[in-house]
Amino acid sequence: MARNIVISGASSGLGRALAIEYAVSGATLGLLGRNEERLEETAQRVREKGAVVCAAALDVRDRDAMRSFLLEFDAAAPIDCVIASAGMTMVTPVPGGVEDLTKAEKLFDVNLNGVMNTIAPIAPLMRRRRAGQIVLFGSIAAFAPPPDSPSYAASKAALVAFALATRTLYHGDGVSVSVVCPGFVDTPMAGSFASWKPLMMSAEDAARRIRRGLDRRKAIIAFPLPLYLAARLQQWLPDPLRTAAMLRFRAVNQAAIR
Ligand SMILES: NC(=O)c1ccc[n+]([C@@H]2O[C@H](COP(=O)([O-])OP(=O)(O)OC[C@H]3O[C@@H](n4cnc5c(N)ncnc54)[C@H](OP(=O)(O)O)[C@@H]3O)[C@@H](O)[C@H]2O)c1
Repeated sequence: MARNIVISGASSGLGRALAIEYAVSGATLGLLGRNEERLEETAQRVREKGAVVCAAALDVRDRDAMRSFLLEFDAAAPIDCVIASAGMTMVTPVPGGVEDLTKAEKLFDVNLNGVMNTIAPIAPLMRRRRAGQIVLFGSIAAFAPPPDSPSYAASKAALVAFALATRTLYHGDGVSVSVVCPGFVDTPMAGSFASWKPLMMSAEDAARRIRRGLDRRKAIIAFPLPLYLAARLQQWLPDPLRTAAMLRFRAVNQAAIR
């Protein structure tokens, strides 16, 4: 069982739920996020469960700071598992509108470069030790891209491809790569936009499912199953049917509603 675990995005949502899920006596958790107050709330709950915490408020886009933290942590507690949960979403500012390019650029920076900065320093060490787990966060949106979040869906599809490629690349090295593809999970991210959110589940329920998938070293940990199957099946529909199905997932930015 993984004992030394680093989790980005630990100040909120799924990252926080995973930190609490993995907190046991004997474990050392490296918790990363930007908001110090919320990160400390997570750290406190993890400590209460008996784990040792090393928390740092860092932006995942800061490559040098991420590298320093990860290498220092690994020197003290060789990392068994790195979970790159930090990410951001965006929906078009008005329904049917076009995404703001500056925001889209930031999203790709956080969701792609931020993830690379989280795993790149550790992957070679894990391969040398011939042990370790690398966990990326895709989304069911990678397979069924919602119309109002093209950049988000594209970033998540890229992460699915990256995860599967590196999983194969590291095959035989003792290092497994998994990509988590949730449907709708009740977190601040999901609360930031209004849309149809079928089968939405709690972050705690999602964290338990992710842990079960990681215990089995699954390549793709996608849930809930009916939504995942529907997302894969719609890829094979004739385009008019696919379009009609995906138009049910129109989304509105909550800020635009207020
Ligand atoms: N919730 C869902 O329905 C859902 C569905 C599919 C996939 N996902 C994926 O699951 C992952 C976790 O999402 P969530 O729902 O838990 O979202 P969340 O509650 O909004 O949490 C996002 C986390 O990412 C961190 N983060 C964002 N930008 C960052 C940056 N530049 N540097 C460092 N940390 C940064 C945030 O830190 P601060 O708050 O401290 O800034 C926060 O801890 C994401 O990759 C998301 O795409 C979520």
